[in-house]
Amino acid sequence: MAQILLTGGAGYIGSHTYVALREAGHEVTIFDNFANSDPGVIDRLARLTGSEVDLVQGSVLDRAALAGVFAAKAFDGVIHFAARKAVGESVRAPLDYFETNIGGLLTLTQAMKAAGVWRIVFSSTATVYGAPAVFPIPETAPLSHTSPYAFTKLTCEQILDQAAVADPFVVGILRYFNPVGAHPSGLIGEDPRGIPDNLMPYLAKVALGELPELSVFGDDYDTPDGTCWRDYIHVADLARAHVLSMDALLGDRGHNLNIGTGNPVSVLEMHAAYEAAVGRPLACRMAERRAGDVPRLYADPTRAREELGFEAEHDLSEMCESSWNWVQAQARGWRFNS
Ligand code: WQD
Repeated sequence: MAQILLTGGAGYIGSHTYVALREAGHEVTIFDNFANSDPGVIDRLARLTGSEVDLVQGSVLDRAALAGVFAAKAFDGVIHFAARKAVGESVRAPLDYFETNIGGLLTLTQAMKAAGVWRIVFSSTATVYGAPAVFPIPETAPLSHTSPYAFTKLTCEQILDQAAVADPFVVGILRYFNPVGAHPSGLIGEDPRGIPDNLMPYLAKVALGELPELSVFGDDYDTPDGTCWRDYIHVADLARAHVLSMDALLGDRGHNLNIGTGNPVSVLEMHAAYEAAVGRPLACRMAERRAGDVPRLYADPTRAREELGFEAEHDLSEMCESSWNWVQAQARGWRFNS
């Protein structure tokens, strides 16, 4: 059992990782300012885990708040989720992304150093691969940033690499591909504000009748059905990867790994899978390409299997069924969920 701090632990990936860590027997504290998450998730986490949630409300930019967190408890490690993560928004407001994502990591690691807490799992992203040329994508693929968001994640990876030279930081970097789905209870899941940018939450809104149809952003790509390939991974698998990553750090084994399934899925295949989960057709139309999209993005998951013993277990239908279950439960206000 270890004491783990989750920054951004009230968010989509963070809340699922909270449950997985508690089920693995760890003590967990959530540090979150609810800038992009619903405070109501805390009560639902308590229902899910059967115990009160240790929560400190605050920002990773607040040095004093972080000093207080580390003074209150002897943490064995940190999983750092707290960041801004919308590619399009980062293009419109790059300085906000640099401040929160890079500034937040610097404030956090300074507070960790002052407290002698050296293990950190960092939430990175496959978009650090830019427009890859080799598939499936290995961790050794060239890195580049195609948006201010990707720039912040790549910069943070490099900051952590350098920090570990000067100080005894033990670093686990996880490059997420496309997280989707929800906890089977329907009590936690992806909860984007406004009209979703991402494919699965957009399909969910169409299935709920809140949006009229899916626009497929381009059907003339170099893929079998002309629509982009992505490596969708169930958030429950991704959460389990974080538990394995922290376990490796507790054994002083750092790493930088792809977390994906290795199985590419096209937009039209995802649309069909979601229709199957819902049990009826979902309107969709072909539309123009979306700026910045790359035709293919899917992982070589070999190293995560070799270094963490991690392999994704949930298939595409489970991803869609769990998402559909979540959005229906959310619409009901979770009145019938245990
Ligand atoms: C997937 C595919 C779209 C919506 C982004 C970020 C990435 C990560 C995950 C943070 C693409 C197509 C989508 C729609 C569509 N976020 N699509 N109609 O762009 O692969 O990754 O989210 O870590 O950093 O870049 O995910 O779900 O937005 O798009 O046709 O209404 O679905 O063109 O091909 P993406 P996505």
